Amino acid sequence: MKKNSKQTVVVLDFGGQYKELIARRVRELKVHSQILPGNTPIERLKEIAPEGIILTGGPHSVYEDGSPRADKELFELGIPILGICYGMQLMTYTLGGEVKPCRVSEYGTVNVTVDDESSILFNDVERDTVALMSHTDRVVKLPDGFIPLAHTADCPVAAMSNDKKKLFAVQFHPEVERTKRGNTIMSNFLYRVCGVEGDYTIDDFIAYEIEKIKEQVGDKQVVLGLSGGVDSSVCAAILEKAIPNQLTCIFVDTGLMRKHEGDEVEAAFANKKLNFVRVDAEKRFLEKLAGVTDPERKRKIIGEEFVRVFEEESSKFAGSFLAQGTIYPDVVESGLTNGAVIKSHHNVGGLPKDTKFIGLVEPLRALFKDEVRELGRKLGLDSKLVERQPFPGPGLAVRCIGEITKERLDILRDADYIYREEIEKAGIKCGQYFAVLTDMRTVGVMGDGRTYNYVLALRAVNTTDFMTAEYVHIPYEVLDTVSSRIVNEVQGVSRIVYDITGKPPATIEWE
Ligand code: XMP
Repeated sequence: MKKNSKQTVVVLDFGGQYKELIARRVRELKVHSQILPGNTPIERLKEIAPEGIILTGGPHSVYEDGSPRADKELFELGIPILGICYGMQLMTYTLGGEVKPCRVSEYGTVNVTVDDESSILFNDVERDTVALMSHTDRVVKLPDGFIPLAHTADCPVAAMSNDKKKLFAVQFHPEVERTKRGNTIMSNFLYRVCGVEGDYTIDDFIAYEIEKIKEQVGDKQVVLGLSGGVDSSVCAAILEKAIPNQLTCIFVDTGLMRKHEGDEVEAAFANKKLNFVRVDAEKRFLEKLAGVTDPERKRKIIGEEFVRVFEEESSKFAGSFLAQGTIYPDVVESGLTNGAVIKSHHNVGGLPKDTKFIGLVEPLRALFKDEVRELGRKLGLDSKLVERQPFPGPGLAVRCIGEITKERLDILRDADYIYREEIEKAGIKCGQYFAVLTDMRTVGVMGDGRTYNYVLALRAVNTTDFMTAEYVHIPYEVLDTVSSRIVNEVQGVSRIVYDITGKPPATIEWE
Protein backbone atom coordinates (compact mmCIF):
# COMPACT_ATOMS: atom_id res chain seq x y z
CA MET A 1 0.00 0.00 0.00
CA LYS A 2 1.10 3.55 -0.64
CA LYS A 3 3.11 4.84 2.31
CA ASN A 4 1.24 7.42 4.32
CA SER A 5 3.04 10.69 3.76
CA LYS A 6 1.91 12.05 7.13
CA GLN A 7 3.97 11.97 10.29
CA THR A 8 3.34 8.70 12.08
CA VAL A 9 3.48 7.31 15.57
CA VAL A 10 3.70 3.54 15.85
CA VAL A 11 1.80 1.84 18.66
CA LEU A 12 3.55 -1.46 19.41
CA ASP A 13 0.98 -3.88 20.77
CA PHE A 14 1.95 -6.12 23.67
CA GLY A 15 -1.55 -7.47 24.20
CA GLY A 16 -3.10 -4.55 26.07
CA GLN A 17 -6.82 -4.00 25.86
CA TYR A 18 -6.26 -0.29 25.32
CA LYS A 19 -4.20 -0.30 22.14
CA GLU A 20 -7.02 1.14 20.02
CA LEU A 21 -7.70 3.73 22.67
CA ILE A 22 -4.04 4.78 22.55
CA ALA A 23 -4.24 5.01 18.74
CA ARG A 24 -7.43 7.02 19.07
CA ARG A 25 -5.84 9.50 21.50
CA VAL A 26 -2.98 9.94 19.06
CA ARG A 27 -5.48 10.60 16.24
CA GLU A 28 -7.35 13.06 18.42
CA LEU A 29 -4.09 14.92 18.92
CA LYS A 30 -3.88 15.15 15.13
CA VAL A 31 -1.15 12.60 14.55
CA HIS A 32 -1.45 9.54 12.34
CA SER A 33 -1.00 6.31 14.27
CA GLN A 34 -0.36 2.77 13.21
CA ILE A 35 -0.76 -0.26 15.46
CA LEU A 36 1.81 -3.00 14.87
CA PRO A 37 2.53 -6.24 16.74
CA GLY A 38 5.02 -5.98 19.59
CA ASN A 39 7.46 -8.27 17.74
CA THR A 40 7.59 -6.14 14.58
CA PRO A 41 11.16 -6.43 13.20
CA ILE A 42 13.43 -3.45 13.81
CA GLU A 43 14.06 -3.23 10.06
CA ARG A 44 10.35 -2.61 9.48
CA LEU A 45 10.32 0.15 12.07
CA LYS A 46 13.34 1.74 10.42
CA GLU A 47 11.51 1.70 7.09
CA ILE A 48 8.47 3.40 8.60
CA ALA A 49 10.72 5.86 10.46
CA PRO A 50 7.97 7.02 12.81
CA GLU A 51 8.18 10.25 14.78
CA GLY A 52 7.63 8.23 17.96
CA ILE A 53 6.79 4.79 19.29
CA ILE A 54 4.36 3.91 22.07
CA LEU A 55 4.63 0.55 23.82
CA THR A 56 1.24 -0.63 25.06
CA GLY A 57 0.38 -2.40 28.28
CA GLY A 58 -0.30 -6.12 28.33
CA PRO A 59 -1.40 -8.92 30.63
CA HIS A 60 2.07 -10.50 31.04
CA SER A 61 4.95 -10.29 33.43
CA VAL A 62 8.36 -9.66 31.88
CA TYR A 63 9.79 -12.61 33.83
CA GLU A 64 7.19 -15.08 32.55
CA ASP A 65 8.36 -17.65 30.02
CA GLY A 66 7.08 -16.68 26.61
CA SER A 67 6.12 -13.14 27.57
CA PRO A 68 6.56 -10.62 24.75
CA ARG A 69 10.08 -9.19 24.59
CA ALA A 70 11.70 -6.25 22.88
CA ASP A 71 14.97 -5.98 21.07
CA LYS A 72 17.53 -3.77 22.85
CA GLU A 73 18.09 -2.11 19.49
CA LEU A 74 14.56 -0.71 19.66
CA PHE A 75 15.73 1.68 22.35
CA GLU A 76 18.81 2.67 20.37
CA LEU A 77 17.06 3.79 17.19
CA GLY A 78 17.01 7.39 18.36
CA ILE A 79 13.20 7.39 18.00
CA PRO A 80 11.38 8.76 21.08
CA ILE A 81 9.55 6.01 22.97
CA LEU A 82 6.76 6.11 25.54
CA GLY A 83 6.27 2.86 27.46
CA ILE A 84 2.88 2.37 29.11
CA CYS A 85 2.34 -0.15 31.95
CA TYR A 86 3.83 -3.41 30.57
CA GLY A 87 5.64 -1.18 28.08
CA MET A 88 7.39 0.52 31.00
CA GLN A 89 8.32 -2.79 32.60
CA LEU A 90 9.62 -4.09 29.27
CA MET A 91 11.73 -0.98 28.78
CA THR A 92 13.14 -1.40 32.28
CA TYR A 93 13.85 -5.12 31.91
CA THR A 94 15.41 -4.78 28.45
CA LEU A 95 17.69 -1.94 29.52
CA GLY A 96 18.97 -3.68 32.64
CA GLY A 97 16.67 -2.33 35.36
CA GLU A 98 14.63 -4.51 37.68
CA VAL A 99 10.92 -5.33 37.83
CA LYS A 100 9.26 -7.16 40.74
CA PRO A 101 5.72 -8.11 41.77
CA CYS A 102 4.02 -5.44 43.90
CA ARG A 103 3.19 -6.16 47.52
CA VAL A 104 -0.26 -4.82 46.70
CA SER A 105 -1.56 -4.81 43.13
CA GLU A 106 -2.91 -1.43 42.14
CA TYR A 107 -6.23 -1.45 40.29
CA GLY A 108 -8.35 1.63 39.78
CA THR A 109 -7.89 5.35 40.08
CA VAL A 110 -5.02 6.28 42.39
CA ASN A 111 -3.34 9.49 43.53
CA VAL A 112 -0.10 10.19 41.70
CA THR A 113 2.52 12.65 42.90
CA VAL A 114 4.76 14.20 40.27
CA ASP A 115 8.27 14.35 41.73
CA ASP A 116 10.00 16.04 38.83
CA GLU A 117 7.79 18.96 37.89
CA SER A 118 10.37 20.16 35.39
CA SER A 119 9.93 16.99 33.32
CA ILE A 120 8.85 17.66 29.78
CA LEU A 121 6.36 14.75 30.09
CA PHE A 122 4.53 16.42 32.97
CA ASN A 123 4.47 19.91 31.53
CA ASP A 124 1.17 21.57 32.61
CA VAL A 125 0.32 18.68 34.95
CA GLU A 126 -0.30 19.48 38.62
CA ARG A 127 2.00 17.96 41.26
CA ASP A 128 -0.93 15.98 42.67
CA THR A 129 -3.05 14.25 40.11
CA VAL A 130 -4.99 11.01 39.60
CA ALA A 131 -4.43 8.17 37.16
CA LEU A 132 -5.77 4.74 36.33
CA MET A 133 -3.45 1.97 37.46
CA SER A 134 -3.83 -1.71 36.67
CA HIS A 135 -0.68 -3.69 37.49
CA THR A 136 0.84 -6.41 39.63
CA ASP A 137 4.51 -5.81 38.70
CA ARG A 138 6.44 -2.62 39.26
CA VAL A 139 9.83 -1.12 38.56
CA VAL A 140 12.14 -1.39 41.57
CA LYS A 141 15.46 -0.45 39.97
CA LEU A 142 15.75 2.02 37.12
CA PRO A 143 17.92 1.23 34.11
CA ASP A 144 21.13 3.27 33.84
CA GLY A 145 20.59 6.83 32.73
CA PHE A 146 16.93 6.99 33.90
CA ILE A 147 15.44 9.21 36.60
CA PRO A 148 12.14 8.73 38.45
CA LEU A 149 9.45 11.29 37.65
CA ALA A 150 6.44 10.34 39.80
CA HIS A 151 5.23 7.94 42.48
CA THR A 152 2.07 6.62 44.16
CA ALA A 153 1.58 5.20 47.67
CA ASP A 154 2.30 1.66 46.43
CA CYS A 155 4.46 2.34 43.40
CA PRO A 156 7.74 4.18 44.00
CA VAL A 157 8.34 4.66 40.26
CA ALA A 158 5.08 5.57 38.55
CA ALA A 159 6.95 7.32 35.73
CA MET A 160 10.56 7.56 34.56
CA SER A 161 12.66 8.96 31.77
CA ASN A 162 16.00 9.12 30.08
CA ASP A 163 15.65 12.51 28.45
CA LYS A 164 18.91 12.29 26.55
CA LYS A 165 17.71 9.18 24.74
CA LYS A 166 14.08 10.43 24.62
CA LEU A 167 12.83 7.36 26.45
CA PHE A 168 9.80 7.90 28.70
CA ALA A 169 7.57 5.51 30.59
CA VAL A 170 4.51 5.58 32.83
CA GLN A 171 3.12 2.78 34.96
CA PHE A 172 -0.42 4.21 34.72
CA HIS A 173 -2.66 4.50 31.64
CA PRO A 174 -2.58 8.02 30.16
CA GLU A 175 -4.98 6.94 27.38
CA VAL A 176 -8.07 6.47 29.57
CA GLU A 177 -10.42 9.22 30.68
CA ARG A 178 -10.00 8.34 34.33
CA THR A 179 -6.41 9.55 34.16
CA LYS A 180 -7.16 13.21 34.69
CA ARG A 181 -4.26 14.70 32.75
CA GLY A 182 -3.71 11.74 30.45
CA ASN A 183 -4.32 13.82 27.35
CA THR A 184 -1.81 16.44 28.45
CA ILE A 185 0.78 13.73 29.06
CA MET A 186 0.13 12.15 25.64
CA SER A 187 0.28 15.59 24.04
CA ASN A 188 3.57 16.38 25.83
CA PHE A 189 5.05 13.18 24.51
CA LEU A 190 3.89 13.81 20.95
CA TYR A 191 4.48 17.52 20.63
CA ARG A 192 7.31 18.23 23.08
CA VAL A 193 9.28 14.98 22.89
CA CYS A 194 8.59 13.70 19.36
CA GLY A 195 8.18 17.21 17.96
CA VAL A 196 5.22 16.35 15.75
CA GLU A 197 3.41 19.07 13.84
CA GLY A 198 -0.13 17.75 14.14
CA ASP A 199 -0.68 17.28 10.42
CA TYR A 200 -3.34 14.55 10.55
CA THR A 201 -7.03 15.19 9.97
CA ILE A 202 -10.13 13.12 9.32
CA ASP A 203 -9.65 13.84 5.60
CA ASP A 204 -6.40 11.91 5.83
CA PHE A 205 -8.25 9.03 7.44
CA ILE A 206 -10.76 9.06 4.59
CA ALA A 207 -8.06 9.20 1.91
CA TYR A 208 -6.10 6.41 3.58
CA GLU A 209 -9.14 4.14 4.05
CA ILE A 210 -10.25 4.71 0.48
CA GLU A 211 -6.86 3.56 -0.78
CA LYS A 212 -7.04 0.53 1.50
CA ILE A 213 -10.55 -0.43 0.35
CA LYS A 214 -9.59 -0.05 -3.32
CA GLU A 215 -6.56 -2.21 -2.84
CA GLN A 216 -8.47 -4.95 -1.00
CA VAL A 217 -11.46 -5.05 -3.31
CA GLY A 218 -9.84 -4.56 -6.70
CA ASP A 219 -12.52 -4.96 -9.37
CA LYS A 220 -14.76 -7.25 -7.28
CA GLN A 221 -18.24 -6.39 -6.06
CA VAL A 222 -19.11 -5.58 -2.43
CA VAL A 223 -22.37 -6.26 -0.61
CA LEU A 224 -23.35 -4.37 2.53
CA GLY A 225 -26.29 -4.98 4.84
CA LEU A 226 -27.65 -1.52 5.48
CA SER A 227 -29.90 -1.02 8.50
CA GLY A 228 -30.12 2.76 8.37
CA GLY A 229 -28.25 2.96 11.67
CA VAL A 230 -25.19 5.18 12.04
CA ASP A 231 -22.50 2.52 11.55
CA SER A 232 -23.81 0.81 8.44
CA SER A 233 -24.74 4.16 6.87
CA VAL A 234 -21.27 5.63 7.39
CA CYS A 235 -19.79 2.38 6.11
CA ALA A 236 -21.90 2.70 2.95
CA ALA A 237 -20.85 6.32 2.50
CA ILE A 238 -17.11 5.61 2.63
CA LEU A 239 -17.44 2.53 0.40
CA GLU A 240 -19.33 4.57 -2.14
CA LYS A 241 -16.49 7.10 -2.22
CA ALA A 242 -13.91 4.33 -2.61
CA ILE A 243 -15.58 1.98 -5.08
CA PRO A 244 -18.55 3.72 -6.69
CA ASN A 245 -20.62 1.35 -8.81
CA GLN A 246 -19.12 -1.75 -7.21
CA LEU A 247 -21.33 -1.56 -4.11
CA THR A 248 -24.74 -3.08 -3.45
CA CYS A 249 -26.52 -2.10 -0.24
CA ILE A 250 -29.24 -4.46 0.89
CA PHE A 251 -31.76 -2.84 3.16
CA VAL A 252 -34.17 -5.33 4.69
CA ASP A 253 -37.37 -3.50 5.56
CA THR A 254 -38.75 -5.69 8.32
CA GLY A 255 -41.94 -3.69 8.76
CA LEU A 256 -40.73 -3.07 12.31
CA MET A 257 -39.17 0.32 11.59
CA ARG A 258 -40.36 3.66 12.88
CA LYS A 259 -42.67 5.93 10.89
CA HIS A 260 -41.14 7.02 7.54
CA GLU A 261 -37.86 5.35 8.47
CA GLY A 262 -37.64 3.00 5.52
CA ASP A 263 -38.22 5.87 3.07
CA GLU A 264 -35.67 8.03 4.86
CA VAL A 265 -33.02 5.34 4.55
CA GLU A 266 -33.83 4.93 0.89
CA ALA A 267 -33.75 8.68 0.28
CA ALA A 268 -30.37 9.01 1.99
CA PHE A 269 -28.80 6.60 -0.49
CA ALA A 270 -30.95 7.14 -3.56
CA ASN A 271 -28.62 9.62 -5.26
CA LYS A 272 -25.41 7.81 -4.45
CA LYS A 273 -23.36 5.76 -6.87
CA LEU A 274 -24.42 2.40 -5.53
CA ASN A 275 -26.99 -0.25 -6.12
CA PHE A 276 -29.63 0.14 -3.40
CA VAL A 277 -31.86 -2.89 -2.87
CA ARG A 278 -34.82 -2.45 -0.56
CA VAL A 279 -36.33 -5.77 0.37
CA ASP A 280 -39.91 -5.39 1.48
CA ALA A 281 -40.07 -8.20 4.01
CA GLU A 282 -42.86 -6.84 6.23
CA LYS A 283 -45.28 -9.61 5.36
CA ARG A 284 -42.74 -12.36 6.06
CA PHE A 285 -41.79 -10.93 9.43
CA LEU A 286 -45.36 -10.30 10.55
CA GLU A 287 -46.43 -13.80 9.53
CA LYS A 288 -43.59 -15.32 11.55
CA LEU A 289 -44.44 -13.12 14.54
CA ALA A 290 -48.20 -13.73 14.49
CA GLY A 291 -49.45 -14.79 17.90
CA VAL A 292 -46.00 -14.55 19.53
CA THR A 293 -45.94 -12.54 22.76
CA ASP A 294 -42.76 -13.73 24.50
CA PRO A 295 -40.05 -11.07 24.06
CA GLU A 296 -37.13 -13.48 23.69
CA ARG A 297 -39.04 -15.55 21.13
CA LYS A 298 -39.74 -12.36 19.19
CA ARG A 299 -36.03 -11.50 19.17
CA LYS A 300 -35.06 -15.00 18.07
CA ILE A 301 -37.61 -15.12 15.26
CA ILE A 302 -36.57 -11.71 13.98
CA GLY A 303 -32.85 -12.56 14.13
CA GLU A 304 -33.35 -15.81 12.22
CA GLU A 305 -35.66 -14.34 9.64
CA PHE A 306 -33.26 -11.47 9.07
CA VAL A 307 -30.37 -13.82 8.31
CA ARG A 308 -32.61 -15.83 5.99
CA VAL A 309 -33.75 -12.78 4.00
CA PHE A 310 -30.22 -11.39 3.80
CA GLU A 311 -28.83 -14.71 2.62
CA GLU A 312 -31.50 -15.07 -0.03
CA GLU A 313 -30.82 -11.60 -1.38
CA SER A 314 -27.05 -11.79 -1.17
CA SER A 315 -26.89 -15.25 -2.79
CA LYS A 316 -27.07 -13.36 -6.09
CA PHE A 317 -23.65 -11.91 -5.23
CA ALA A 318 -21.48 -15.02 -4.85
CA GLY A 319 -17.79 -14.15 -5.26
CA SER A 320 -18.26 -10.70 -3.73
CA PHE A 321 -16.89 -9.17 -0.57
CA LEU A 322 -19.20 -8.72 2.40
CA ALA A 323 -18.91 -5.30 4.03
CA GLN A 324 -19.88 -4.62 7.62
CA GLY A 325 -20.07 -1.48 9.71
CA THR A 326 -18.25 -3.14 12.60
CA ILE A 327 -16.79 -0.54 14.94
CA TYR A 328 -14.16 -0.98 17.61
CA PRO A 329 -16.51 -1.45 20.61
CA ASP A 330 -18.11 -4.39 18.70
CA VAL A 331 -14.68 -5.98 18.41
CA VAL A 332 -14.07 -5.52 22.14
CA GLU A 333 -17.50 -6.87 23.09
CA SER A 334 -16.93 -9.95 20.96
CA GLY A 335 -13.85 -10.76 23.02
CA LEU A 336 -11.34 -10.39 20.21
CA THR A 337 -9.05 -8.16 22.23
CA ASN A 338 -8.74 -10.00 25.52
CA GLY A 339 -10.91 -13.09 25.26
CA ALA A 340 -13.83 -11.83 27.38
CA VAL A 341 -17.03 -12.12 25.35
CA ILE A 342 -19.61 -9.55 26.37
CA LYS A 343 -21.91 -9.89 23.37
CA SER A 344 -21.20 -11.76 20.16
CA HIS A 345 -21.57 -9.66 17.05
CA HIS A 346 -22.38 -11.08 13.68
CA ASN A 347 -19.21 -12.07 11.76
CA VAL A 348 -16.89 -9.89 13.86
CA GLY A 349 -14.45 -12.78 14.14
CA GLY A 350 -14.33 -13.35 10.36
CA LEU A 351 -16.48 -14.96 7.69
CA PRO A 352 -18.17 -18.30 8.40
CA LYS A 353 -16.54 -21.27 6.61
CA ASP A 354 -19.40 -22.13 4.26
CA THR A 355 -19.80 -18.61 2.90
CA LYS A 356 -20.07 -17.57 -0.74
CA PHE A 357 -18.33 -14.30 0.09
CA ILE A 358 -14.61 -14.01 -0.56
CA GLY A 359 -13.71 -11.69 2.28
CA LEU A 360 -14.82 -9.07 4.79
CA VAL A 361 -14.46 -5.32 4.35
CA GLU A 362 -14.70 -3.38 7.61
CA PRO A 363 -13.47 0.17 7.16
CA LEU A 364 -14.71 1.39 10.58
CA ARG A 365 -13.17 -1.39 12.64
CA ALA A 366 -10.68 0.87 14.41
CA LEU A 367 -13.10 3.68 15.18
CA PHE A 368 -15.14 4.65 18.21
CA LYS A 369 -18.76 5.77 17.89
CA ASP A 370 -18.11 9.50 18.07
CA GLU A 371 -15.38 9.17 15.45
CA VAL A 372 -17.83 7.30 13.20
CA ARG A 373 -20.29 10.18 13.58
CA GLU A 374 -17.62 12.74 12.71
CA LEU A 375 -16.66 10.69 9.68
CA GLY A 376 -20.31 10.49 8.59
CA ARG A 377 -20.66 14.27 8.77
CA LYS A 378 -17.44 14.70 6.82
CA LEU A 379 -18.74 12.31 4.15
CA GLY A 380 -21.82 14.47 3.75
CA LEU A 381 -24.45 12.28 5.40
CA ASP A 382 -27.51 14.05 6.74
CA SER A 383 -26.96 15.14 10.36
CA LYS A 384 -30.29 13.55 11.32
CA LEU A 385 -28.95 10.20 10.20
CA VAL A 386 -25.54 10.67 11.79
CA GLU A 387 -26.97 11.77 15.17
CA ARG A 388 -29.64 9.07 15.21
CA GLN A 389 -30.51 7.71 18.63
CA PRO A 390 -29.89 4.00 19.19
CA PHE A 391 -32.64 1.75 17.86
CA PRO A 392 -32.76 -1.93 18.80
CA GLY A 393 -32.10 -4.51 16.10
CA PRO A 394 -35.54 -6.16 16.57
CA GLY A 395 -37.08 -2.72 16.05
CA LEU A 396 -40.56 -1.89 17.27
CA ALA A 397 -41.19 -5.55 18.09
CA VAL A 398 -39.70 -4.94 21.55
CA ARG A 399 -41.80 -1.81 22.00
CA CYS A 400 -45.08 -3.42 21.04
CA ILE A 401 -45.89 -5.47 24.13
CA GLY A 402 -47.97 -8.55 23.47
CA GLU A 403 -49.06 -9.54 20.04
CA ILE A 404 -47.55 -7.84 17.02
CA THR A 405 -49.97 -6.89 14.28
CA LYS A 406 -49.77 -4.26 11.57
CA GLU A 407 -52.62 -2.32 13.21
CA ARG A 408 -50.90 -2.23 16.58
CA LEU A 409 -47.57 -1.31 14.99
CA ASP A 410 -49.24 1.57 13.15
CA ILE A 411 -50.72 2.91 16.39
CA LEU A 412 -47.26 2.74 17.97
CA ARG A 413 -45.58 4.33 14.95
CA ASP A 414 -47.98 7.28 14.87
CA ALA A 415 -47.77 7.91 18.63
CA ASP A 416 -43.98 7.53 18.67
CA TYR A 417 -43.66 9.98 15.79
CA ILE A 418 -45.68 12.66 17.59
CA TYR A 419 -43.70 12.12 20.78
CA ARG A 420 -40.34 12.42 19.03
CA GLU A 421 -41.51 15.47 17.11
CA GLU A 422 -42.52 17.30 20.30
CA ILE A 423 -39.35 16.37 22.19
CA GLU A 424 -37.27 17.69 19.31
CA LYS A 425 -39.39 20.83 19.01
CA ALA A 426 -38.96 21.51 22.74
CA GLY A 427 -35.19 20.99 22.40
CA ILE A 428 -35.05 18.53 25.28
CA LYS A 429 -31.73 16.72 25.66
CA CYS A 430 -32.44 12.98 25.76
CA GLY A 431 -30.21 10.09 24.82
CA GLN A 432 -33.01 7.76 23.84
CA TYR A 433 -36.75 8.44 23.78
CA PHE A 434 -39.63 6.45 22.38
CA ALA A 435 -43.19 5.28 22.89
CA VAL A 436 -44.21 1.78 23.99
CA LEU A 437 -47.60 0.28 23.18
CA THR A 438 -48.67 -1.88 26.09
CA ASP A 439 -51.05 -4.83 25.84
CA MET A 440 -53.30 -3.35 28.52
CA ARG A 441 -56.59 -1.76 27.64
CA THR A 442 -58.50 0.60 29.90
CA VAL A 443 -61.82 2.32 29.84
CA GLY A 444 -61.98 5.86 28.57
CA VAL A 445 -64.52 8.35 27.42
CA MET A 446 -64.42 10.32 24.21
CA GLY A 447 -67.23 12.63 23.17
CA ASP A 448 -70.33 10.90 24.43
CA GLY A 449 -69.01 7.40 24.03
CA ARG A 450 -67.17 4.88 26.12
CA THR A 451 -63.83 3.66 24.74
CA TYR A 452 -61.74 0.64 25.62
CA ASN A 453 -58.30 1.26 24.13
CA TYR A 454 -54.61 0.70 24.79
CA VAL A 455 -52.37 2.28 27.39
CA LEU A 456 -49.36 3.90 25.74
CA ALA A 457 -46.18 4.55 27.70
CA LEU A 458 -43.62 7.25 26.99
CA ARG A 459 -39.98 6.68 27.85
CA ALA A 460 -37.00 9.06 27.79
CA VAL A 461 -33.60 8.33 29.27
CA ASN A 462 -30.13 9.72 29.45
CA THR A 463 -27.22 7.36 29.59
CA THR A 464 -23.55 7.30 28.72
CA ASP A 465 -22.86 3.59 28.75
CA PHE A 466 -26.35 1.99 28.43
CA MET A 467 -25.55 -0.09 31.53
CA THR A 468 -27.26 2.48 33.71
CA ALA A 469 -29.73 5.18 32.75
CA GLU A 470 -31.77 7.96 34.33
CA TYR A 471 -35.23 8.96 33.24
CA VAL A 472 -35.46 12.47 31.88
CA HIS A 473 -37.43 15.16 33.74
CA ILE A 474 -39.55 16.25 30.81
CA PRO A 475 -41.51 19.44 31.65
CA TYR A 476 -45.22 18.85 32.28
CA GLU A 477 -46.15 21.30 29.51
CA VAL A 478 -44.35 19.14 26.95
CA LEU A 479 -45.97 15.97 28.29
CA ASP A 480 -49.34 17.78 28.11
CA THR A 481 -48.84 18.62 24.45
CA VAL A 482 -47.68 15.11 23.58
CA SER A 483 -50.56 13.52 25.45
CA SER A 484 -53.30 15.64 23.93
CA ARG A 485 -51.85 15.31 20.43
CA ILE A 486 -51.62 11.52 20.68
CA VAL A 487 -55.14 10.95 22.00
CA ASN A 488 -56.55 13.35 19.44
CA GLU A 489 -54.54 12.24 16.44
CA VAL A 490 -54.06 8.51 17.00
CA GLN A 491 -56.97 6.13 17.11
CA GLY A 492 -56.63 3.27 19.56
CA VAL A 493 -54.94 4.95 22.55
CA SER A 494 -57.04 5.94 25.54
CA ARG A 495 -54.47 6.56 28.26
CA ILE A 496 -50.88 7.74 28.37
CA VAL A 497 -48.33 7.20 31.14
CA TYR A 498 -44.77 8.42 31.58
CA ASP A 499 -42.13 5.93 32.76
CA ILE A 500 -40.22 7.33 35.74
CA THR A 501 -37.91 4.41 36.47
CA GLY A 502 -34.19 4.38 35.94
CA LYS A 503 -31.95 1.49 34.95
CA PRO A 504 -31.54 -0.33 37.28
CA PRO A 505 -34.08 -1.41 38.44
CA ALA A 506 -35.80 -1.20 35.03
CA THR A 507 -34.15 -1.57 31.62
CA ILE A 508 -34.31 1.05 28.90
CA GLU A 509 -36.60 -0.97 26.64
CA TRP A 510 -39.74 -2.50 28.11
CA GLU A 511 -39.06 -5.97 26.71
P1 XMP B 1 -31.89 -2.27 27.77
O1 XMP B 1 -33.33 -2.38 27.42
O2 XMP B 1 -31.21 -3.59 27.92
O3 XMP B 1 -31.22 -1.57 26.50
O4 XMP B 1 -31.64 -1.36 28.94
C1 XMP B 1 -29.92 -1.08 26.43
C2 XMP B 1 -29.68 -0.55 25.02
O5 XMP B 1 -29.71 -1.62 24.09
C3 XMP B 1 -30.79 -1.46 23.16
N1 XMP B 1 -31.41 -2.77 22.98
C4 XMP B 1 -31.20 -3.58 21.93
N2 XMP B 1 -30.44 -3.41 20.84
N3 XMP B 1 -31.07 -5.53 20.08
C5 XMP B 1 -30.38 -4.38 19.91
O6 XMP B 1 -29.71 -4.22 18.88
C6 XMP B 1 -31.86 -5.79 21.15
O7 XMP B 1 -32.47 -6.84 21.27
C7 XMP B 1 -31.91 -4.75 22.13
N4 XMP B 1 -32.55 -4.63 23.31
C8 XMP B 1 -32.22 -3.43 23.81
C9 XMP B 1 -31.73 -0.46 23.79
O8 XMP B 1 -32.46 0.26 22.82
C10 XMP B 1 -30.77 0.41 24.55
O9 XMP B 1 -30.17 1.38 23.72
